[in-house]
Amino acid sequence: MTRRTRVLGVGSFVPDRIVTNDDLTQWMDTSDEWIRTRSGIEQRHWVEPDDTTTSDLGLEAANRALDAAGLSIDDIDMLIVATLSPDHEFPGTACFLQAKLGCPGIPAIDVRQQCSGFVYGMAQADMFVRGAMADTVLLVGAEIHSKAMDISTEGRDISVLFGDGAGAAVLQAVDVDDPSTQAHIYSSHLHADGNYAKELWIEGPSSTYSPNRWDNDFLERGAQWPKMNGKTVFKHAVTRMPEVALEALEANDFAVADVDLWIFHQANMRINYFAAKKLGIDDDDKVFNTIQRFGNTTAATIPIGLDEALKAGRLEPGMLVCIAAFGSGFTWASSLLRW
Ligand code: ACO
Repeated sequence: MTRRTRVLGVGSFVPDRIVTNDDLTQWMDTSDEWIRTRSGIEQRHWVEPDDTTTSDLGLEAANRALDAAGLSIDDIDMLIVATLSPDHEFPGTACFLQAKLGCPGIPAIDVRQQCSGFVYGMAQADMFVRGAMADTVLLVGAEIHSKAMDISTEGRDISVLFGDGAGAAVLQAVDVDDPSTQAHIYSSHLHADGNYAKELWIEGPSSTYSPNRWDNDFLERGAQWPKMNGKTVFKHAVTRMPEVALEALEANDFAVADVDLWIFHQANMRINYFAAKKLGIDDDDKVFNTIQRFGNTTAATIPIGLDEALKAGRLEPGMLVCIAAFGSGFTWASSLLRW
């Protein structure tokens, strides 16, 4: 028997407020047709313009994941939170969420690998469990993008793409003697190339600037908003996601046809279409996309995808599931699981 990690339960949460593509036209020069054809997005959920924080969304998703796992917060011995939209610059959002969950004392870890954050977190959880530093890990991906985007025409290339939301998974140690049937994570594969850091980033506030982390024309030039070289991101995403997915399959002697369900990061429907084509996935039903309804929720896309796939009856015990993500950094990562 080998000590491995399995996903015991997942949950997700999005705020009630739905913002359609048509709704966006009140703030910027865009159209439903442009957004649908370029990205596949039809609507996204944004928080109300109130004091809701990323950890508030994470709390809802975490509680749903705990319910799905049949556990209480007292059963959790490690908390990992992936986000690019933290509650505050410091301390980490995991600490804020920990206080809301009521589990003081356990390790609380932030993961800052953006769209790949949840898969990086899954790899970390798996390694902590395999190494017996933890038995039951709560992994959360949560984002509030709507408060940190330029929703004027100037920022439309980015702001039409992103939504708010959270997803969570409870991961637990399991003794595996038959990997072909028992639920567990086979392996995870992580990569990054910081040479592309500025292709998708927020310039500041930053330690570049002294003494105040910003300079005189900071707000004037919009340095607080995310900036993206969309074409470069697209080009790398359609290469790296299939590449890292294949790496996971090869490491475990599986073929593309063995995979029952693919959950890709949800940045753009066209990216996922090209990734599926490159991999030679012959059945569209094996690729589960949620971007139409939620937009890109960054670190939350993968757990939202898992939860929605379960609700839709597309994810069943015994299935081989391949997860792959690509994002700012650039970072890219995959996990292969027996569900
Ligand atoms: N509405 C209307 N017009 C727009 C919008 C908008 N929201 N945004 C940009 N445009 C305009 C531009 O101003 C430009 O106009 P111009 O030609 O007059 O200068 C034109 O549309 C650009 O059009 P395209 O070149 O056809 O745009 P493209 O096909 O490259 O699509 C997109 C842009 C969707 C951003 C694409 O590059 C992309 O998907 N990139 C991947 C990046 C991505 O998905 N990032 C998500 C976050 S990263 C992550 O999660 C991995």
